[in-house]
Amino acid sequence: MLSYSLRPKTARTVFPDTGPSGVPSPFCEGSPTRLTACSPMASDLFTPLRLGPLELPNRVWMAPLTRSRAEADHVPGALMATYYAQRASAGLIIAEATMAIEGHSAFIREPGIHSAAQIAGWRLTTEAVHAAGGRIVLQIWHGGRACHPLLNGGLQPVAPSPIAITGDEIHTPEGKQPYVVPRELADGEIPAIVEGFRQAACNAMAAGFDGVEVHGANGYLLDAFLRDGSNRRSGPYGGPLENRARLLLEVIAAVRLESEVVGLRISPLNGYNAMVDSDPIGLSTWLAERLNAAGLAYLHVMRADFAGLQHGDVLTPIRRHFGGLLVANMGYDVEEANAAIGAGAIDAVAFVTAFLANPDLPERLRLGAPLNGPDPATFYTPGPVGYTDYPALAVPVA
Ligand SMILES: Cc1cc2nc3c(=O)[nH]c(=O)nc-3n(C[C@H](O)[C@H](O)[C@H](O)COP(=O)(O)O)c2cc1C
Repeated sequence: MLSYSLRPKTARTVFPDTGPSGVPSPFCEGSPTRLTACSPMASDLFTPLRLGPLELPNRVWMAPLTRSRAEADHVPGALMATYYAQRASAGLIIAEATMAIEGHSAFIREPGIHSAAQIAGWRLTTEAVHAAGGRIVLQIWHGGRACHPLLNGGLQPVAPSPIAITGDEIHTPEGKQPYVVPRELADGEIPAIVEGFRQAACNAMAAGFDGVEVHGANGYLLDAFLRDGSNRRSGPYGGPLENRARLLLEVIAAVRLESEVVGLRISPLNGYNAMVDSDPIGLSTWLAERLNAAGLAYLHVMRADFAGLQHGDVLTPIRRHFGGLLVANMGYDVEEANAAIGAGAIDAVAFVTAFLANPDLPERLRLGAPLNGPDPATFYTPGPVGYTDYPALAVPVA
């Protein structure tokens, strides 16, 4: 299963708009791009934010988080609804990676959004979150070469090029297995993938989500096309960046037909799933510029590498070249998050491990209350233990 570390091992990003102490000045000396005029009050994690038609009460987002709690046939159940409703105080919940197209599962018990039963199952979650006052979008994905035949009725995974993930194993019903060499997708098969994402977005809206996030990160299919370590093909989807990004941009355009709120998650530096690119900063800069025309509600950037091997500052060029709402993730604490938002370097922060263990995370951060620690042993185990039993603060403090 995933071996995500709880914090990236890279050095922290130093944002460009901080003073000598590293703390941004809230008045007048802010970001040359964002806080140019005197601003009476700098924003922080607790400043409301507009996201298309959605009014977010804070900027403490819940990042997508696979928990392997779906029922048979990848159908989300009532337990998942409880879990997400507990976290409804997030500015925005981005629900976990969810299979857009049947036959491309990379996790045991991962949810899907390609069947009527899955749509009905997800409706339990969206209704529970909305009833609790929250907002929720669905992360839709295709696992690409991270899928395994033992999770998909014997189907060989597909990818831009026939290059297997190395250095890790995948959990299957028959125990841990090496990743297999994927089959190279023919150009003629790509329209069906784009259409699968469009249909998944349509299904997500039918299930009551407030939008979707396209999973373009962590080495799964769209990211595998984007980065040149995993994309060695020629033709319209290989070679120069404009070709490697073609599938991602086609998917975003298709998904936008179905949903007003479409986010995109990318991880240009993350080496997870044996990913690498020869020029992650160049890729980030080019993509940020190109995404201005894509109609995204937000761009969600994982800023570092789980393994700590690939370094760099991707957020600064992305902020400079992308005019839309920018959400950052990986290893933030409340001080750094507030400083970065206050400086105008980012607009919101998505938290994972902190949200996993603290259903009332925004309130705890606001109060400076202690945080429950996450239990990695129950990240992916079935049932409520380590899922819906993390306690909220006993007595909310005014
Ligand atoms: C248990 C677990 C499951 C995750 N599942 C997903 C997922 O479904 N989709 C995704 O894009 N990232 C996933 N991630 C990565 C997180 O969204 C996030 O990028 C990472 O944990 C770093 O955030 P943090 O520093 O706030 O913990 C997962 C991480 C963990 C620990």
